[in-house]
Amino acid sequence: MTGAEGTEPRREGAAAPSGVRTGPLVAGERVTLTDQKGRRHSVLLRAGGVFHTTHGGVAHDDLIGRPEGSVARSVGGHLFLAFRPVLNEFAVSMPRGAAVIYPKDAAAILMQADIFPGARVLEAGVGSGALTLSLLRAVGSAGTVYSYERREDFARVAAKNVETFFGGPHPAWRLRVGDLVETIGPEPVDRVILDMLRPWDCVAAVAEVLIPGGFLCVYVATTTQMGRVMDQIRTHEGFTEPWAREYEVREWHAEGLAIRPAHTATGHTGYLVFARRLAPGVTAPLRRRRPAPGAYGPDYTGPRPGWVRALPPERDDE
Ligand SMILES: C[S@@+](CC[C@H](N)C(=O)[O-])C[C@H]1O[C@@H](n2cnc3c(N)ncnc32)[C@H](O)[C@@H]1O
Repeated sequence: MTGAEGTEPRREGAAAPSGVRTGPLVAGERVTLTDQKGRRHSVLLRAGGVFHTTHGGVAHDDLIGRPEGSVARSVGGHLFLAFRPVLNEFAVSMPRGAAVIYPKDAAAILMQADIFPGARVLEAGVGSGALTLSLLRAVGSAGTVYSYERREDFARVAAKNVETFFGGPHPAWRLRVGDLVETIGPEPVDRVILDMLRPWDCVAAVAEVLIPGGFLCVYVATTTQMGRVMDQIRTHEGFTEPWAREYEVREWHAEGLAIRPAHTATGHTGYLVFARRLAPGVTAPLRRRRPAPGAYGPDYTGPRPGWVRALPPERDDE
């Protein structure tokens, strides 16, 4: 394994769109209306349009031309607060082909995989494009996000979501339809993010293009996938010892003396596995710590890291 060198000059260009709009609300854009019970409704503003509610209609013209944070009154006297949806709201409400990476995990990926302005990031699969939005915003116009998706219908959904959010095509985005291992390009990349079935099948392919020191991040939904991909990363020997994390978010209720965790909680989303690419020709130093008893015993059928293969076989009674 040689790994890729990071010598390609960074692209200079016009500022990338951020997906953030300011100024008065205009016809043709989407707003989120929050009612007095805290329920949220997504509405596409159009001149002369009406948002129908059980408390009577809300005229879109009452909002068009007014600043975000304005209140509109329905015919029945109910009040609705209007804001434009921000990235984390858009990502969970946009049309979906496949399950999305939730904002709490996307935020952790940006920080823990160290995604930076100008970075070249490889992402697979694209699914609905939720993570793609965060990656594009983070790398900006000087970066590149190479996104691989093997399903053309999902790629179309993702492309539409990206264009809707950024108001047009994003200059840093290269969307490629095809299986990652079969269609991976030769470009060196600084970061790799995998969110797909069987990510362990792609570890060797992405190691070829990931620069030394670059981060590999794998998002998995189950602990069995977590274990399998970590053992595959170890078995490859071109990465550091991988580490795994789960991020939990707890909402709070704070009103007068009633201060407690909120009743609603985000359920299980997934686990994040990280590792860093080693220099060309370097293999990870042999671990001195023995694995836990049974970790790689006779029942274990997954990939075996080299240092495990070098150990005397475990007996059933150990
Ligand atoms: C859970 S979705 C990705 C969701 C995406 N990260 C998001 O935040 O919206 C997984 C996607 O990986 C794609 N996929 C699975 N294996 C693939 C492969 N070998 N190459 C390219 N895409 C693949 C699937 O078609 C699916 O769309």
